[in-house]
Amino acid sequence: MSPEDQKRAAASRAVDFVMPGMRLGLGTGSTARHFVEMIGARVRAGLDIVAVPTSEATRVEAERAGIPLTTLDETPALDLTVDGADEIGPDLNLIKGGGGALLREKIVAAASARMVVIADESKLVQALGRFPLPVEVAPFGFAATLRAVESACGAATKPALRRGKGGHAFVTDGGHWIVDVALGRIDEPKALAQRLAGIPGVMEHGLFIGLAKTAVIAGPAGVRVLERS
Ligand code: A5P
Repeated sequence: MSPEDQKRAAASRAVDFVMPGMRLGLGTGSTARHFVEMIGARVRAGLDIVAVPTSEATRVEAERAGIPLTTLDETPALDLTVDGADEIGPDLNLIKGGGGALLREKIVAAASARMVVIADESKLVQALGRFPLPVEVAPFGFAATLRAVESACGAATKPALRRGKGGHAFVTDGGHWIVDVALGRIDEPKALAQRLAGIPGVMEHGLFIGLAKTAVIAGPAGVRVLERS
């Protein structure tokens, strides 16, 4: 199975968690996109669900797939969110935000009774941190916030401002910027999450602690379902 086939296999298994009448959160990224397409096919075949997208990109994909959309203002409590991840570590703690949608992804996951994370096997790690940690920050006071993030992370390398088209700062759906912090290994993700959350200019960080209840992991040997103990 190619990595793309693995992503598709994980998404397909996660469709089994979807029941008629559910209020869904739809994740962002290449793995979540497979899930959106599959849910779209079910909707066109008569499945009755409503969904909240976690990004403008997913909103476009979901609309194209014919999925009825709602917002957290209209539907503040969701039954299930299915989303990808950049890393899945011990206790199903995650790093997310590689696609820049971490703020909405975390709000939607926290509003859901259950978060199922879907991924190919390459995302499963013994310790979080090999993937640079995305931290979403307000453009106002950027240099001051950057210093505070650096100090909270104790990083050997400086947090790097994510850049998009034309070398300009990448701008999130919420109008913020992202810095990526190369940490190598995060030994105490919960403590780091708390330190980052305490910085005023930090809008959100990519550590998802205690949010995912289930992980669907696809590898060459097949699909595994892991539950947080
Ligand atoms: C989006 O901001 C991210 O959190 C994605 O969920 C994450 O980057 C996984 O994306 P892929 O499924 O494309 O690897």
